[in-house]
Amino acid sequence: IKRHTGILERYRSFLPVTENTPLISLHEGSTPLIHAPNLSERLGVELHFKYEGLNPTGSFKDRGMVMAVAKAVEEGSRTIMCASTGNTSAAAAAYAARAGLRCIVLIPNGNIALGKLAQAIAYGAEVIAIDGNFDEALQIVREITASQPITLVNSVNPYRIEGQKTAAFEICDALGKAPDILAIPVGNAGNITAYWKGFKEYRDFGLIDSLPNMYGFQAAGAAPLVLGETVSNPETIATAIRIGNPASKEGALQAVSESNGLVDSVTDNEILEAYQMLAKHEGIFCEPASAASLAGIIKLRRQGKLSDGAQIACVLTGNGLKDPNIALKLVGEEPRSIPATREAVMSFIAEKAGM
Ligand code: F0G
Repeated sequence: IKRHTGILERYRSFLPVTENTPLISLHEGSTPLIHAPNLSERLGVELHFKYEGLNPTGSFKDRGMVMAVAKAVEEGSRTIMCASTGNTSAAAAAYAARAGLRCIVLIPNGNIALGKLAQAIAYGAEVIAIDGNFDEALQIVREITASQPITLVNSVNPYRIEGQKTAAFEICDALGKAPDILAIPVGNAGNITAYWKGFKEYRDFGLIDSLPNMYGFQAAGAAPLVLGETVSNPETIATAIRIGNPASKEGALQAVSESNGLVDSVTDNEILEAYQMLAKHEGIFCEPASAASLAGIIKLRRQGKLSDGAQIACVLTGNGLKDPNIALKLVGEEPRSIPATREAVMSFIAEKAGM
C-alpha cells in the first residue's frame, strides 16, 4: 500500500503542484467519512459525517492552507497574513511554522474560541485582536496585502479553494460515488465553493457519474446568503461562522444553483441540539459551527423536504475540542466533587441511577 503524507502528494495531479512546489505536509486530509447508524435511524435518511476535525490543526482549513503556503514558498514569499474567526489562523500559523514563514493573523476580539487562539499563539503567529468583526478584519487584511509583500491566505486566495476541494474527492472515494446531498456549514463561503469544484472535477475526469445537491447552512443571526443582503452585525454562538459579508458568496450561490441545491439558516438552538446529538448518539464531537450541517438536515427532514433514505454527507468542519466552553456551558455545571472513597462513589452512582 502506498501511503501518502498529505493532500499535495495524494491528489497531486488534481492540484497546481509543479516541480518547484514544496510538498509540505502535516498529514492533512484522508479524514474519515463516518457512517452514523443511530442518527440515520432516527431521521430516516442515510447519514455520513466527513469528520474534518481530525486534520492536524483540527479543521478542514489545513487542506487549503497547505496548498496556499506551498505556493507562497514557491513564489518566494516570506510572510503570510489572514483574518480569521479562529480556524484559519490556527492552520496558517501551523503551516507557516512548518515552512519557516512569518504569520500575522487578525481576529475579532472576544469572538474566537479558546482552543483556536491557543493554537495560533503556540504555533508562533503574531496575533492581532481588533475591536471589530471578521468582515472588518478581512477588509483590513485585503488592503494591507494588496500593497505589501505579504501573501493573503484567506480563501479569496484561489490556492485555498484548490486544496479544500480534495475533501470532495475523498467523500467520493469512500462512497464509490457522490452522495445524493452534501450538507455543509457556510461562513465566508470558500468551502462550499471548493467542494462544488471538487465534485465537478471528479465528474469531468469520469470518476463519478452524478453530482450531489449542495445544501449550505448558515447561522440564523449570520445568514447573508439566505437574506440576500449583507448582515452588518452578525451574531451567533457558532463564532466560526459569525460572518455577515461572505467573500466567496458568488461561488456559494453558483454551487447552489448549478447543483439544484439550497441555502438555509438554522438557529443557535438548532445548532446546539445537533451538536449534542452528534456527541451523545454517535460519539462524534465537533465544534458548534460544524453542527450547522446536521442541524440543517434535521430542519429539512422535519419540514418533509428530504426523501426517505436519501444518502447525505454532512461536513463536520472542526473538532469539538476547539471550543470546550460551549460544551461545559450546555451542561450548566462542572462535575461536583465528592470524597475520595469507594462508598462515596457508590452512593453517587446509585443516586444518579435513581436507585
Ligand atoms: N466551520 C468552521 C469550523 C469554520 O471555521 C468555518 C470558517 C466554516 C465552517 C465556514 O467555512 O468560511 O469556507 O464558508 N472559518 C473561517 C476562519 C472563517 O477564519 O477560520 P467557509
